[in-house]
Order: sequence, then C-alpha cells, then structure tokens
Amino acid sequence: MQITPMSGPFGAIARDVDLAADQSEATMRALIAALHEHQVLAIPGQSLDYDQYAAFGRFWGKPLLFLNEKDRKQEHPELIRIANPPSTPQRFRDGARFWHQDSSYEDVPASVTMLYGIETPREHGETLIASARLAYDALDAETKDRIENLVGLHCLGGSPALPGENIPCNAEAIARYGLTSHPLVLRHPVTGRKALYLSGSAYGVEGMNPEEGRELVGRLRAHCTLPRFVNTYKVETGDIFLWDNFQVLHSATPIEYSDEPGKRRLLYRISTKGIPALCAAEAAA
Ligand SMILES: [Fe+2]
Repeated sequence: MQITPMSGPFGAIARDVDLAADQSEATMRALIAALHEHQVLAIPGQSLDYDQYAAFGRFWGKPLLFLNEKDRKQEHPELIRIANPPSTPQRFRDGARFWHQDSSYEDVPASVTMLYGIETPREHGETLIASARLAYDALDAETKDRIENLVGLHCLGGSPALPGENIPCNAEAIARYGLTSHPLVLRHPVTGRKALYLSGSAYGVEGMNPEEGRELVGRLRAHCTLPRFVNTYKVETGDIFLWDNFQVLHSATPIEYSDEPGKRRLLYRISTKGIPALCAAEAAA
C-alpha cells in the first residue's frame, strides 16, 4: 500500500490496497494512522459488498444509527443512504451545505465519517473539508490561552451562519437532542493533538453572555474556514473517503437533483463513535 499526500493543505490518498481482499490488522493500522496524521483519507478503486463495507466501518469505532430512519439501509442500518432523486422535497435538499462536524449535537459525537461511492455524477457533488487542527495551530498564543479551557454549547443547527451556509433548523430534531456541550479546544482521543471543535451546532460558550459567546463561535468558525485551511475532494465511484471529525469540519456543495445517468448519485455513509479498537492501548497510554 502507498500513502501519498493529496494536493492542497492536508489529506492523503491510499493506493494499491484492495479492501475486499485485505482488511488485515496491518492494513487497517496503516490506514488508521494515515487518517489520524492527514485528517482526511481517500481510498480509491474499491469494490466492496455491503457486508465488507460494514465490516470495514467497524474498524473505526462503533457505527452510529442516523437520526432519519428512512435513510438507513434496511439490512445494514449503519449504512446511511445519500442520494439525489428529483423527488427529494425542497426542504431536504442540500441539507449538509454548512460547515459542521458530524453528530456534534449529541453528547457523544461522531469520531470518523466515511462515504463509499456506488454511483457518482460527472459534475458537482464535491465535499469541502476545513482543518480545525491547522486553524487551531495558526491562532496567536493569546487566543489559544484565552480559549484553552472554554466549553462550547451545542444544539442541532445552532451556529451563526457564515455567508452561503444553509444551517438546518429542524424543530423536531432540536427537541429530540436538546442541548449539549463539548470543549472548544478538543484533544484528539488517540493522538492528543488539539483542534477547534465548533461544528454547525455551537451557539455559545459556557460562562459567557450569549452575544459574546455567539460572536466568539462565529469568529472561530470564520477562521477555520479560511481558504488556506480548506481542501476539496470529490467522491468518485469506488472511492472510500474518510474524515476525522475531531480534526476537520466539512460541508457539502450544491448538487443537481436528478435520476439521469451521469447525474445521479448514490453514496453510503458510515459514521462511528469512539476510537478504533486497534488504538485502545495507545489512547490509554
Ligand atoms: Fe456531515
């Protein structure tokens, strides 16, 4: 297997690996280490069946069950269907077109998310990724000191929107998940590296007045998504593309809603919670 950097400020591509034939401990350890180092990882040219993809997903943590039950694949409920049929109601279109870290509105948020491209459009459908680790590293020492022990307050869709964002406001989901909190500066549970944790759900900061907290969250979200911390990846058919939610924010880009060949998209997402079982010893050390 060869791991080479992606073009852009971060990210890596793993080649010469066939996950349908090889999900050995050595291969998985190398992929996990690559994701932790490079923050996002593309593994092109795969031809897994759904059992094999679900097995691959379990190496990264405990797969979560997505809030919208209709998007779960029947035989594999941890596989979340992402498609663009023209029948999609307007209110559900481009629902991930805002900067976020997955499931940040839950007490235990998603650690890793992966997409597997089954069918992909010729144009559009890129994923934008922003490094909250590079963004943290670039802060001045005074800001780092000031935010070191702050706790972010989160609720689904709670963040102040940046230009062009479409932050979802789903009253039912907000009622279901309520409020939660996470450190504003998160230490990676395996590597210990620090990154900002803001997602699209941080709406304030514990102990600050609401306006001040919201202003700080908005400012840090804008900082994280400066072009120098952003990379783009388009998932193609056969790609598995993973990101580390403890190091990056991501945003979907607009896509045409169509079932025509060359325009339709079918991806299966898996998100996990917790750390890979293979990293348990490192994390405890
Ligand atoms: Fe997402």
